[in-house]
Amino acid sequence: MRTQVVIVGAGPSGLLLGALLGKAGIDNVIVEARSAEYVLGRIRAGVLEQVSVDLLDEVGVGARMHAEGLPHDGFDLCFGGQRHRIDLLGLTGKRVMVYGQTELTRDLMDARKASGRTTIYEADDVSVHDFDGKRPSVRFRQRGQAETIEADFIAGCDGFHGVCRASVPKDRITLHEKVYPFGWLGLLADVPPVSHELIYVNHDRGFALCSMRSRTRSRYYVQCSLADHAEQWSDRAFWDELRARLPADTAAHLVTGPSLEKSIAPLRSFVCEPMRFGHLLLAGDAAHIVPPTGAKGLNLAATDVGYLAQGLIGHYKGRSIDLDHYSDRCLRRIWRAERFSWWMTSLMHSFPANGSFDRKVQLAELDYLVHSEAASKALAENYVGLPM
Ligand code: FAD
Ligand code: PHB
Repeated sequence: MRTQVVIVGAGPSGLLLGALLGKAGIDNVIVEARSAEYVLGRIRAGVLEQVSVDLLDEVGVGARMHAEGLPHDGFDLCFGGQRHRIDLLGLTGKRVMVYGQTELTRDLMDARKASGRTTIYEADDVSVHDFDGKRPSVRFRQRGQAETIEADFIAGCDGFHGVCRASVPKDRITLHEKVYPFGWLGLLADVPPVSHELIYVNHDRGFALCSMRSRTRSRYYVQCSLADHAEQWSDRAFWDELRARLPADTAAHLVTGPSLEKSIAPLRSFVCEPMRFGHLLLAGDAAHIVPPTGAKGLNLAATDVGYLAQGLIGHYKGRSIDLDHYSDRCLRRIWRAERFSWWMTSLMHSFPANGSFDRKVQLAELDYLVHSEAASKALAENYVGLPM
């Protein structure tokens, strides 16, 4: 088989790239290690910036997001038992869209199916070859049969644990990493959200986040130990812990119910530089990870892919400049999001090694943040994100 661009990974990055290239008439094939159901079963992001909304509109998959997504004009920061509203719309003129990654992935998968372009699910032993040479290819096995797809370019959209970044020789890649000493235990339940906007909570017992997927489905998180396993946490223990981290009047409104899903995500900051290796281009979580506190991961994946599509479209029109600058354009934006996500994480979590001094400084910074318009504005500007 031969195509122009072979895309490894059918997460949000791979599917959106496939849609942007398809719209420009560039032939592409997606190769995914898992089944479509497995990909849809991963409960992850919830908050989309305007740039991501625009990219989804550009490829014509925004209808359900606009009908069912929830535009949010602000969120609450909670510390010292008090909630303080950050007025995103008032401070920046922009809002964010609450729409689950699962739904967005489903919309992109449906559009891909309707386009008739090839997606190969459940590909085993995927490997990438000759990306510096003249005949780049992706090899895999399907139902025991060895397959090869030759292409002009390979797009590595295969997430943090994928094969693409791992195939780059060590002397050509620089990795920057920070691992945090805690994780997030997330719970999804068909109960109405405790508040109509998100609440980010700093508490002595640890961070908590009240988010949602719809007016009847809530997504909550509590900071947990890295030694914890989701199965050890009963629903009851989760709800009790969340309630303990909320102010009493908010906790009184919390509606609990059986979990639909419960999982633990470790928190990590990670960047690989550069993002282009000859004809292999990395995008999304394959190239960088942010801790979820700033809600940036999926949005960065979308903007990487926006730049990558521009670069590849330019290339096929005989203009190489956008592709030559792909890595630099992405990395500037990525480092700004890395800084913001690291800062939000440092501000909102309980760090096991910190003493009372660090704790007091954290509370003083939060106090400054909500009482200084300049500081609130900087937070809001980073949260709603930059245009492309
Ligand atoms: P992935 O979604 O990881 O997709 C990669 C795909 O590649 C997968 O389908 C995988 O199966 C496939 N793959 C892997 N290896 C191979 C292989 N060898 N061959 C073929 N295929 C392979 N981001 C936000 O912007 N806002 C949020 O509110 C937010 N909240 C989050 C909350 C949590 C708890 C977590 C964990 C993440 C959150 N994120 C958020 C981050 C966001 O989910 C990710 O950044 C996003 O999924 C990245 O998309 P991706 O397509 O690059 O990678
Ligand atoms: C979510 O709804 O899953 C979510 C929302 C905001 C974040 C992280 C996750 O910062």
